[in-house]
Formats: sequence, structure tokens, C-alpha cells
Amino acid sequence: MDPRTRIEELKGGYWMPVVLLTAGHLGLFAALKDRPRSAAEVAGELALATRAVEIVLLALVAEDLLLQREDGRFALHPEYAPYLLPDGDESVASIMEHHYHLLGRWIQLAEVVRSGKPVPRPESGRSPEQLRAFICGMRDIARRSTETVAAQVDLSSCRRLLDLGGGPGASSIVLCRHFPRLHCVVFDLPEVVPIAVEEIAAAGLSDRITTQPGDYLTDGPDGDLGDGFDCVFVSNIIHSLSLAATGRLLGKAMAALKPGGLLVIKDFFLADSRAEPAWAALFAVNMLIGTDEGMSYTWSEIEAIIRSHNGTGIERRELPPASGLLLARKA
Ligand SMILES: C[S@@+](CC[C@H](N)C(=O)[O-])C[C@H]1O[C@@H](n2cnc3c(N)ncnc32)[C@H](O)[C@@H]1O
Repeated sequence: MDPRTRIEELKGGYWMPVVLLTAGHLGLFAALKDRPRSAAEVAGELALATRAVEIVLLALVAEDLLLQREDGRFALHPEYAPYLLPDGDESVASIMEHHYHLLGRWIQLAEVVRSGKPVPRPESGRSPEQLRAFICGMRDIARRSTETVAAQVDLSSCRRLLDLGGGPGASSIVLCRHFPRLHCVVFDLPEVVPIAVEEIAAAGLSDRITTQPGDYLTDGPDGDLGDGFDCVFVSNIIHSLSLAATGRLLGKAMAALKPGGLLVIKDFFLADSRAEPAWAALFAVNMLIGTDEGMSYTWSEIEAIIRSHNGTGIERRELPPASGLLLARKA
């Protein structure tokens, strides 16, 4: 593609995501779940404006995300419906809702760059709806990505795994299904643990996955994170911390392992240039907007931290499409 065309495509590249996320947020996909409907029927059911609903639905048809019948009614596309509808194991509706909430923050990037500070959050923090969309959004992603972890990392000899910042427990659920001897502890903030408890119960794994409310920044290192683990899994955590805080957290993670235990870090790792892969470089912008000191780190930076905590046998693994794994043993 020539440079001018590329810039022209990039400049409007946010339009379709905004249409998609708004349609999910307003419940347009769910409104088509049982049968095809006209724009007027959808608008009537959801108390929206018919003309506007029709224009938005047509944009989704143009992108092949919905179908339009000959009589003008709109229908779900069978190949996309499992992902767009809110329920079901394949759904990505919660992570779309999380991204809908992020839109309002990304639009403030200019102010973030001026001030060097993230977009302020309300005193009261995330609303319960926003917290649930974030945590269940992590579930939508982890359900699939942890399948790839399970295919790449053999945990069959592990008995006890600490899922540090384990959020909804989705990774622990997938790992327990793959490795029948495994028991997991999902460690997360007190306001998040009830969501994990629900998810673990719904998966029928309450006998193998327990939860531990706490703060991984202030708890530990002498026991509050627990100890004697065969594996500590640190998935999508370090990018929200400074490099110094990452060092402290990984020190606690190593302390929680048995000698010979396995540390598994999953994140968006950068090459030493810090400009590739593109997704990791762009994710650093998301952390700039959302956190005081978070960013994407290079493989080398995190490997140096692991070595400083006596980690040995460090291995890098690509985790397509965008993540990576760093594995290390406690000496
Ligand atoms: C980006 S999510 C990752 C969730 C999960 N590990 C995954 O990969 O899907 C970050 C998680 O860290 C948790 N978290 C953030 N700060 C924390 C803290 N200080 N102590 C414990 N958990 C924390 C969040 O509640 C959230 O569940």
C-alpha cells in the first residue's frame, strides 16, 4: 500500500471499532439472538432511535458482521454470533465492553502526553459495572490464550500453582482441566475475588481452585502470598507496574516457589528496540493512559530481574498472536 493510502486508512481506522463496541454496549447483537428483526423492532425493544439503529446495523452488515435479509430485517452472522453474544464460552462481549469503557480514556491521550499523567479515575475508582467488564474481559481473553499456554508448558508434575493477580480465575480453570493433579490459588484484590469464586463454581472446580484476597504490592514476602508452590503464574500483570515494582513482585513470586519450582510470566514483550512487535508498542500507550508507571517491557529487562532473584534456565516462548512467555526455575 502506498504511504498516502496507508495514512488515510489509519486515520479513520477507529470508526468501525467504535461502531462495533457501541453495538455491543447497547445490546444490538443480543436483540437479534432469537430471530431476525427490523431496525424498528430493535429500536422499540431497546428504547433507541430507529433511524440511528438502522444506520449502525447497516455499517455492521457492510463489514459482514451481521446479515440483512431480503425483507430488510437484520440477522446475526452464524460465524460471528458466538463471539458477539454475551453468553457462552466463546463470547468476547465482556472484553468488548471493557474496550467500550477505554474509548473515553483513549480520547484523552493528548492531555496524557501533555501532563505525563494517566487519565484520572473517579475517587470511587471503577464502577462495579466497569470492574466486572474488565475482569470478565480478562476471562474472555484468558480462556483462549491459556489453552496455548497449556499446550506449550507441561505442568503435569505440578501440584500447587499460585495464579498471581489471577482475576476471574479463567487461567486456573483452563490449567486444572488440562492437568488433573493441579490445584490452584487465585490471588487477587478483595473486590475481584467474588467474581473468581462465581466463575470457579460455575466451572465445577471449587474443590481444586481456592481464592486468596490480598494485595500483591503490599502483602508478602514472608508468607502472605503463600509458599511452597510448584509454579507461580504471572499473567498480564507486570505491564501495569514500574520496572522497580516488577522487580519487587517477581522477587515475591520467586520466594513463593519451592526450590526448582517454575515461574511463568505471560505478557506483551518488546524487542530491545522497544518498537516491535507493534502490538506490544501500542499496548504501552494503553498503560500510559491507564496507569502511573506501567508499560510494555523488553524480554531482556525481565530476564535480568529473574536472574537477580536466582532464576535459572530462562526460556522465551512466543505465544501467538501477540503475547510471550518467560519461563524460569528457582535455583
Ligand atoms: C490485566 S488483569 C490480568 C488477569 C489475569 N492474570 C489474566 O491474565 O487474565 C490484572 C489483574 O491483577 C489484579 N490486581 C491488580 N492490582 C493488584 C494488587 N495490588 N494485588 C492483587 N491483584 C491485583 C487485577 O484485579 C486483575 O485481576
